[in-house]
Amino acid sequence: MDHARDRAKGHVTLVGAGPGAADLLTLRALRAIEAADVLVHDDLVPADILMLAPRARLIAAGKRKGRHSMPQTRINALLVALGRRGLRVVRLKAGDPLVFGRAGEEIAALRAAGIAHDIVPGVTSALAAAADARVPLTLRGVASHLVFATGHGADGALPPGIEALAREGATLALYMARSVADGVAARLLAGGLPASTPALAVEQAGRDTRRLFAGALADLPALAARDDLAGPVLILVGPAVAHGDLAQAEPFLADLLAAAA
Ligand SMILES: C[S@@+](CC[C@H](N)C(=O)[O-])C[C@H]1O[C@@H](n2cnc3c(N)ncnc32)[C@H](O)[C@@H]1O
Repeated sequence: MDHARDRAKGHVTLVGAGPGAADLLTLRALRAIEAADVLVHDDLVPADILMLAPRARLIAAGKRKGRHSMPQTRINALLVALGRRGLRVVRLKAGDPLVFGRAGEEIAALRAAGIAHDIVPGVTSALAAAADARVPLTLRGVASHLVFATGHGADGALPPGIEALAREGATLALYMARSVADGVAARLLAGGLPASTPALAVEQAGRDTRRLFAGALADLPALAARDDLAGPVLILVGPAVAHGDLAQAEPFLADLLAAAA
């Protein structure tokens, strides 16, 4: 590799910002953020993390459900253009960049353009959610598989084959599944998962503002109907969930009497 040429072309680092708490950034992420000339960030990355980059120009790429976002092709082109200008660019993504972060498309564009790039992993929200409720994601004799899955396929609909995730002894970590919790639950039940399978949803995992909701798979659809959840939500389903500390969790179904009081 021609390092002098790479330096002249700049460098793009895809950095995982973790679930949104500054103290869950890795040291490597912090160093990259502090050294950046430009920081292209997603909406889910909070202001206190962006403040760690005082010298960087900040560019918001959006990517929050229901809000205006830069199209992915434009983000790819932007990263290439910034890299070509010889800048140190940080592409800051929620959680881990390689987990449902469209990093693959950005990496492909950088590779095709010959821009040097690397990846700094981050704490993905499934791990933060599990830690919040002290849920062992794998547990001897109870859960021997851990599956990261999304509720939204490439066309926005439920991904095909989601029923196949209904496997004995698996913990499912479901991203982007809150608004389609009814469809996800129906498919998992159709796939053979018992209605009583424990489930947990964590809003704003890893942050002080987190909220926990627990119940059975059969009750999960109630989450889709709630209008009091504005933050990102991660859902865990599987027998290992019952081994977490769920005493503080609210039920999936909002207590309408309490809400009206
Ligand atoms: C586009 S995906 C990005 C996932 C991210 N790359 C990761 O590793 O966590 C967005 C989804 O991640 C989940 N998510 C991200 N941050 C979260 C958080 N702090 N708490 C709960 N869920 C979160 C939600 O399911 C949200 O809909």
